[in-house]
Amino acid sequence: AQVVQAEFVKSSVRTEDCPSDGLPEFALVGRSNVGKSSLLNSLVRRKRLALISKKPGKTQCINHFRINDSWYLVDLPGYGYASAPQELRTDWDKFTKNYFLNRSTLVGVFLLIDASIPVKKIDLEYASWLGQNQVPMTLVFTKCDKRKKKKNGGKRPEENVQDFQELIRGFFETAPPWIMTSSVTNLGRDEVLLHMAQLRNY
Ligand code: GTP
Ligand code: MG
Repeated sequence: AQVVQAEFVKSSVRTEDCPSDGLPEFALVGRSNVGKSSLLNSLVRRKRLALISKKPGKTQCINHFRINDSWYLVDLPGYGYASAPQELRTDWDKFTKNYFLNRSTLVGVFLLIDASIPVKKIDLEYASWLGQNQVPMTLVFTKCDKRKKKKNGGKRPEENVQDFQELIRGFFETAPPWIMTSSVTNLGRDEVLLHMAQLRNY
């Protein structure tokens, strides 16, 4: 399931403009700054294939990266970026949700949740929206390398992960699969790639 080749293909704003070669794809979605672009780079073992920034709101389009010439990883803009103009936020929300509902080659959505901070309402709302719309989803907890900090609620990543799972239990008939990751230590990298390989072969 390892990545031997990865290349950026294109940025799109509308679902209709995404690549039309029919290859299966997986989208990385989550709050702005949760680590979507970092996870993508970790998966493909490249430092700067997807652009990363300390400032939220870095990724602004639907970015397609072709992997091993046979499937795509898709980097999306984050939701919940409070400092972006409202108009822009509504726009991102609209085109990502349109993409989830209409992209026929989308095999699975990987919803990234920051495990270094307490559960955020907006993440619960997003998980609930994906559940209600029956978008096939895997939960990816990010930043699991970070130690607990008083200012971040004083809980370990494992405890935040457990809290999140308890809170979304009501949204799904069967609990979505979940993986703990870190783009710093590459924890969970093989597990994510293996899971994607399994989903492609269904
Ligand atoms: P947007 O494109 O703005 O939506 O953000 P994003 O979700 O793509 O996040 P990005 O990958 O740009 O990372 C945001 C910040 O979090 C950067 O400063 C990263 O270095 C940091 N970061 C990402 N993943 C990890 C991780 O696993 N551990 C730690 N400690 N920091 C991380
Ligand atoms: Mg990004």
